[in-house]
Amino acid sequence: MAEMTLSEMAVDVLTTADGFEKTKKSRDYAAQWFAAREAGTPLNIGRADAPLRPSRPAKPELLDPRDVPKRKPGSPQGRIALLHAVAHIELNAVDLHWDIIPRFAHIEMPLGFYDDWVKSADEESKHFNLICDCLKELDSFYGALPAHAGMWRAAEDTVDDFMGRLAVVPMVLEARGLDVTPGMIDLFRKAKADRAVASLETIYAEEVGHVAYGSKWFHFLCGRHNLDPKEQFHTLVRKYFHGALKPPFNEEKRAEAGLPPDFYWPLADQHPPRTR
Ligand SMILES: [Fe+2]
Ligand SMILES: [Fe+2]
Repeated sequence: MAEMTLSEMAVDVLTTADGFEKTKKSRDYAAQWFAAREAGTPLNIGRADAPLRPSRPAKPELLDPRDVPKRKPGSPQGRIALLHAVAHIELNAVDLHWDIIPRFAHIEMPLGFYDDWVKSADEESKHFNLICDCLKELDSFYGALPAHAGMWRAAEDTVDDFMGRLAVVPMVLEARGLDVTPGMIDLFRKAKADRAVASLETIYAEEVGHVAYGSKWFHFLCGRHNLDPKEQFHTLVRKYFHGALKPPFNEEKRAEAGLPPDFYWPLADQHPPRTR
């Protein structure tokens, strides 16, 4: 059998419904990509048709965010609901990372771009599994609760705009993860939920890299097209992201990931504090 191209691998992940099967394929293909890179015989990127929406398991039921029941974060049920929401985000992130490869394969990119995207997809797959282990410890599982239906919207909105995808997904949505994860870690630390604390700490550390890859390749494309990155970022986020960005921002981690304050503050619904 001819060797699969990276785009074919991506479509295979996207069209696999079960979360554990999807993440297993994702991790196996990532290992194949990096083994081939190390051997000096990189896989072809190739072409394959990405589905408009990835396959998903029959459960969880996907609901409008307004209809997803809110639970008190301090209660055991609230902690399960929070972990369930994180698992859902991570599974979406697996698909978001693989989707970009076949979707924009017609745009020539250096191999380092694919290294970054495949590495992130692999890490998202690990994150999903880590959080599923936490749910299991609490006698729950991914699919036990309803989940947010709007997660794929950013992908659909930017289905034909590569720079728009980079602006909205890693540089807005994943950057938001950097803002909210420390608070979640505190909440689980107070509950002495050691496994959840350790898992979220791994996620937090690795997500800085995902935002950084987004910023790096967004700047690369701006350079290629002779565009001002900050202006371009503002234009694309206003075009594709619905609503304002919400402070407080994790300015330190955002800086580490290559996102300076003048990128995100002008898109916020508040002004930066005056004591700066
Ligand atoms: Fe993640
Ligand atoms: Fe991520």
